[in-house]
Amino acid sequence: MKKYLAAILSLLTLAASAHAQTCTLVVDASNLRIKINKNIYGQFSEHLGNCIYDGIWVGEKSKIPNTNGIRNDVIEALKRIRVPVLRWPGGCFADEYHWKDGIGPHEKRPAMINTNWGGVTEDNSFGTHEFLELCRQIGCEPYFSGNVGSGTVQELSQWVEYVNSDNVSPMTELRKKNGQEKSWGVKYWGIGNESWGCGGNMRPEFYADQTRRYGTYMREYGQNKLFKIACGASSDDYQWTEVMMKNALGHMSGLSLHHYAFNDGKTAADFNEGGWFAMMKNTLLMEEYVTKHSAVMDAYDPNKKVALVVDEWGTWYKVEPGTNPGFLFQQNTMRDAITAACNLNIFNNHCDRVRMANIAQMVNVLQAMILTKEDKMILTPTYHVFDIFKVHQNALWVKTTVQSPDYVYNNEKLPAMNCSASIDENGKLHISLCNIDPRSTQQIDCELKKYKVQSVSGQILTANEMNAHNSFEKPNVVAPQKFAKFSLSKGGLTVSLPPMSVVVLELEGSCELASALEIKNPKSGILYEYYEGYWKNLPAFNGLSAKRSGVLDQFVIPDNNSGENFAVRYSGYIKIPTDGLYTFYINSDDGTDLVIDDNLIVDNDGQHASVEQSSTAVLKAGYHQIKVGFFQAGGGKAFDVSIEGPNIAKQIIPAAWLFN
Ligand code: AHR
Repeated sequence: MKKYLAAILSLLTLAASAHAQTCTLVVDASNLRIKINKNIYGQFSEHLGNCIYDGIWVGEKSKIPNTNGIRNDVIEALKRIRVPVLRWPGGCFADEYHWKDGIGPHEKRPAMINTNWGGVTEDNSFGTHEFLELCRQIGCEPYFSGNVGSGTVQELSQWVEYVNSDNVSPMTELRKKNGQEKSWGVKYWGIGNESWGCGGNMRPEFYADQTRRYGTYMREYGQNKLFKIACGASSDDYQWTEVMMKNALGHMSGLSLHHYAFNDGKTAADFNEGGWFAMMKNTLLMEEYVTKHSAVMDAYDPNKKVALVVDEWGTWYKVEPGTNPGFLFQQNTMRDAITAACNLNIFNNHCDRVRMANIAQMVNVLQAMILTKEDKMILTPTYHVFDIFKVHQNALWVKTTVQSPDYVYNNEKLPAMNCSASIDENGKLHISLCNIDPRSTQQIDCELKKYKVQSVSGQILTANEMNAHNSFEKPNVVAPQKFAKFSLSKGGLTVSLPPMSVVVLELEGSCELASALEIKNPKSGILYEYYEGYWKNLPAFNGLSAKRSGVLDQFVIPDNNSGENFAVRYSGYIKIPTDGLYTFYINSDDGTDLVIDDNLIVDNDGQHASVEQSSTAVLKAGYHQIKVGFFQAGGGKAFDVSIEGPNIAKQIIPAAWLFN
């Protein structure tokens, strides 16, 4: 009763102080170049508490409806939010996990003690094959976290071979004996986890060398290319990032970052506005961390080839009463939904560097999407944020500029509103808005640049109480609703964003694209100029004199080249068949770049082995200027320029599209 009265009182207090603030927002669809990598919406599942066991894996004999031992209800829910990638088996667990204990007949698998999480017995009934089956059922990419802390180089090397090789070898024979004929071709591999802590308490210099060493023996087999993710910093440890970039660049495709918003020792739903504000403040630190780690990375990797992978993030509270403290089981409230939206907006807005993120964790642990109790399952407010934000996956990032009022609490302030936006392949513009202020409505005056809107719809996630949450008894207290508090205005729209809410608007309309060029009497083929010299990067062609020039049908290396130490500049026009989003790819050894209408689209510069880089442009049908640079130093040689577009599968740019 006391609790009930307190809740009513807090609600009345909030209502009494509710007021509206004005906010301006500019959504600028003019320079659409960067895709929001869908992997930002990734998940993490560790052998921790009831994440894997009971939450996902119940075994084939369970009464809980399952497919090959994996819960059907959980899979169905995960498919709905389009989980793109799943990290496993840890976390701290990964650095004590010996993968060979988790393959072969279940009854023969040895048990181990899960020393990190509750000291419980791990019977290894969920291992490599089961995890890959889980990913198959969800339809997501697997991301293995390798054991560097207590495992050998050989052990990790053999895991990659077992999973990815189709050669004849003891590892591939073992895999076939265990029922899997063909390799799975897993791309994402982590080299240890939190190696500065539970993963071995290493110093960055030592770990950077371990990254080089372990990474060397994580081999690529056939077409199965690897994306190696090195262990990165915790929160604001910029020194770690600095040392890794200095000492291990060239040995990793991604560098991780972990940041948890911890609270003051209270359970998830037990807080007042002070607890709300503290969690918002802690969460919004992510903006600072991502910005500063990216700046450190930029100094060593200005072309942003190494991804920042935020492979653990979320809220962390005291566990629910009566549960094992080592199981990290917590409820999930409206406060968590808001923090999830803030983080996803931050990642979207840093999508040039942040190309994967994995919330901790997927089921029953920390800021979970799903909570289970025997055969029951509920979806958390955080799940619903992932659901309404999924429209940003692989969409083109749109720049937003917000002038936000402050959310003030006890003389401290935070920006009340944050947002991100993107345009999907159908030309729909999605704007995700988040109001962290539990008392004030944000009246948003939104200007749309270079986008003609025809109609708008929206979804909202909000609640009357800060600690509103879903329970097994009341599973739908916090769930998305239709949102209609907006109106179209000249040049944009106005939106009334309620206190503590997350809104995703869907705008149907079209981008105002720059017009195509008028070309009189275009001739087939692309012009080229051939140069000789030694370069480490693409030369400044304008200051050089070409040895010869001519016309080629397509982007190919001209014959009669010197074999090494030469460069080619191509220029002409590409005829785009229909308005839409096009992705340009260049695979090259050594460096290349591609410019459309004076905008640098693909940067694949520098001396390197065969590497593919890609980027996108939204183009109007018709002629556009295209320029490609290529240089060859020594060693191998490769050069392919491809395109993918609306109803056009990825292909080498056809000769019929090229003119001069
Ligand atoms: O997600 C829980 C734990 O938090 C992970 O195992 C570890 O990597 C981090 O410290």
